[in-house]
Amino acid sequence: TAVVLDFGSQYSHLITRRLRELNVYAEMLPCTQKLADLSWKPKGVILSGSPYSVYDADAPHADPAVFELEVPVLGVCYGLQEIAWNYGKDVSAGNRKEYGHAILSVTRHIDAPSHIDILFSGLTDELEVWMSHGDKLRALPKDFVTIATTSNAPFAGIAHMQKKLYGIQFHPEVTHTPCGKALVENFAVKLCQCKQNWTMERFVDTEIDRIRKVVGPTGQVIGAVSGGVDSTVAAKLMHEAIGDRFHAILVDNGVMRLNECAIAHKTLTEGLGINLTVVDASEEFLGKLKGVEDPERKRKIIGNTFIEVFQREAERVMRESGGAVDFLLQGTLYPDVIESISFKGPSATIKTHHECTLLLSSSGNVGGLLENMKLKLIEPLRELFKDEVRVLGTNLGIPEDLVWRHPFPGPGIAIRILGEVTPTQVAIARKADHIYIEEIKAAGLYRKISQAYAALLPVRAVGVMGDKRVHDQVIALRAVETTDYMTADWFDFDGKFLRKVAGRIVNEVDGVCRVVYDVTQKPPGTIEFQ
Ligand code: XMP
Repeated sequence: TAVVLDFGSQYSHLITRRLRELNVYAEMLPCTQKLADLSWKPKGVILSGSPYSVYDADAPHADPAVFELEVPVLGVCYGLQEIAWNYGKDVSAGNRKEYGHAILSVTRHIDAPSHIDILFSGLTDELEVWMSHGDKLRALPKDFVTIATTSNAPFAGIAHMQKKLYGIQFHPEVTHTPCGKALVENFAVKLCQCKQNWTMERFVDTEIDRIRKVVGPTGQVIGAVSGGVDSTVAAKLMHEAIGDRFHAILVDNGVMRLNECAIAHKTLTEGLGINLTVVDASEEFLGKLKGVEDPERKRKIIGNTFIEVFQREAERVMRESGGAVDFLLQGTLYPDVIESISFKGPSATIKTHHECTLLLSSSGNVGGLLENMKLKLIEPLRELFKDEVRVLGTNLGIPEDLVWRHPFPGPGIAIRILGEVTPTQVAIARKADHIYIEEIKAAGLYRKISQAYAALLPVRAVGVMGDKRVHDQVIALRAVETTDYMTADWFDFDGKFLRKVAGRIVNEVDGVCRVVYDVTQKPPGTIEFQ
């Protein structure tokens, strides 16, 4: 295992990602992690970038044991400065910011110990790299040599003369550094001698073993499923591990997409053999949403009602199983875990913060369930990225349609109906959305688009339908392309496609006389309308 110590850079998780792409198993830990507390010895350590300067009074620093481990260490950006700081705290740092592409010149040391040149071995002498830093080294720490320079950074790469200790100022983990993957491979495989044996098949086997060990021979698990990819994959993995001792619960909140509950029910039970109960609580949800227009109130009501319904069902399952349910399944992914790992504060705080963050995601805050019902959390996907979950889902036999499903918010179409959520409005929004998605799939565009939906606007527009003047509602279509969902661009449909969708919606959905297309980028526009 390679370890990535996270000092808080926005790119830290990409380092782990690059290692995994090389089939090297890697874990990201907060930078303050005490290595003595690990039950295993890493084969190498990468120190990430950071928004801090090593000279900040509250700057995070690595456990000094990192440098005593006698395994290779690579410092990236802040990581380089952290190494320099450890090997001569008087090394001064500059304050000019550098952000963007740079040309890196590699300095070879033919006569020096051979480990020095390995980081750049097999790469050309001039490389395009991506820089993003404020501080930079102005002098070499003792016993280090320069292994790369740029016109702005004379110590863009450094290596220790005796130890396998390296620092690079640029970011090898971002795609703007084309040689980054080869460099990470040189470090992990050639220098650390990490095995390249991390595959999805191996992941499935080890995870199923782990689940069986954790749950025990008679233990039972409950978990909510939504019909989306994460919860379905988590549920399928659970089912593979413990069969019907895993109880899945699908809460129909009345604001899911057209036929979504019925389709999910069929796929999960008939297709995947999962022990699933569908609870139709749509009247309860819609009753509580009556008269509510504020989006944040809608979110709260849906989240809280979800917890009430789920708790009721979980209690029923517990009664029927003789009280033997000990675990709650969550389909938490790696990015949720990373977001909640923090180097600020002791590890106890990290844990609570972590649980709060992930439990708040998608289906609402079920944190109370853990306490009230004394359930322990089980998260089989917590090491995976979204696209790895998709590969895993495919391997587990989950249908393509579900594996590639666009993300869908926990509060469902309630936040896509602007204004009050009534059964009539739900029916209109569902039907329009269904037509839109059907046409996107027919045009072969579904996978190119990251997220698409139809929103129902709270305005009336005039139209002439048949021979009559009407005063009906307006549907707004939204489609975005994004990789991180933090920024997004609207999808550039051709006019013919939009004309067809608009024509169908106006003709087929009663109560709608006008269709518009949203051409707002995020930021400033969010992906959802509310
Ligand atoms: P925004 O609208 O913030 O959306 O640009 C970014 C991503 O988050 C999803 N989203 C939600 N997901 N509960 C969720 O589970 C919510 O309340 C919620 N609001 C937004 C949105 O669909 C998009 O994928």
